Amino acid sequence: MSGRGGCEESLLRSLDALGRMEQLDAVIGPVQRVVRGVPLGRFRDVLHGRQIGHPLHPALVQIPIGAWVSAAVLDVVPGTGRSARLLVGVGVVSAVPAAWAGWVDWAEQHESQMRTGLVHAATVATAIGLYARSWVHRGRGRTAWGKALGFAGLCMAGTGGMLGGHLAFRQAAGTNKTEPVPHLLEEGWHIVGGVEDFPVGEAVRRELGEVPVLVFRQPGGRIHVLAERCSHQSGPLSEGEIVDGCVECPWHGSVFRLADGMNVRGPATAPQPAFKVRVDGDGTVHVQLPGAG
Ligand code: FES
Repeated sequence: MSGRGGCEESLLRSLDALGRMEQLDAVIGPVQRVVRGVPLGRFRDVLHGRQIGHPLHPALVQIPIGAWVSAAVLDVVPGTGRSARLLVGVGVVSAVPAAWAGWVDWAEQHESQMRTGLVHAATVATAIGLYARSWVHRGRGRTAWGKALGFAGLCMAGTGGMLGGHLAFRQAAGTNKTEPVPHLLEEGWHIVGGVEDFPVGEAVRRELGEVPVLVFRQPGGRIHVLAERCSHQSGPLSEGEIVDGCVECPWHGSVFRLADGMNVRGPATAPQPAFKVRVDGDGTVHVQLPGAG
């Protein structure tokens, strides 16, 4: 093994180990309860990013990161002290909504993701603290201290960003878990059973090849079919409660409309794939997913 390869592997092993740090669980439970208990109402879904179809947090962090990187550039340009301080302040203020969006996502994740997420949050909080002190020192004329604290903050923010990337892409927090569904199905119609296999008002789980689906027969006879694994974190929708034409995921409470799979309540930011349904004269139920294959 080359030295470089060994270094890369040990970095990856260290990052992966964060998700197994059970010592963090003692902190995670109480913090999760606090975050879930904040009365955000419908604004919680806005912070999740439901309206834009993907998590809002990665978009919001562009503002503080951009401001702080710009401040670091100005710190090596003579005569730009006031502008650099302004950017440091913009970064600190804009980090607050970005952090809140991150916290509400974090509170609805798997254990291993929450452990990494807690370290990510602690790293970013340290960066915010360093930048806040940098802003104060700059305002009092202690520019050298302000710059030093700013560069320390940038290092912490960069580390936090790397951990956020690990969380998003290696641990798949925030990704749409139903994205593979159309790629796993053949195009065209598939038989999912006979009408009598689906008792009225009862969610039934069926397999279409590798894809589990939720079949629900309404009292009026209409049949709805959705991908069964929740787009948020793969929760089993067939075990969820069905109320008012919607199914509620049993894991974190996302609500999906049975008629078209639309996520009417988060934390899910992506809808469920919804199948077209056709019932033959002999009662055979066929389903087709638009865009499959
Ligand atoms: S798995 Fe989280 S809401 Fe369904």
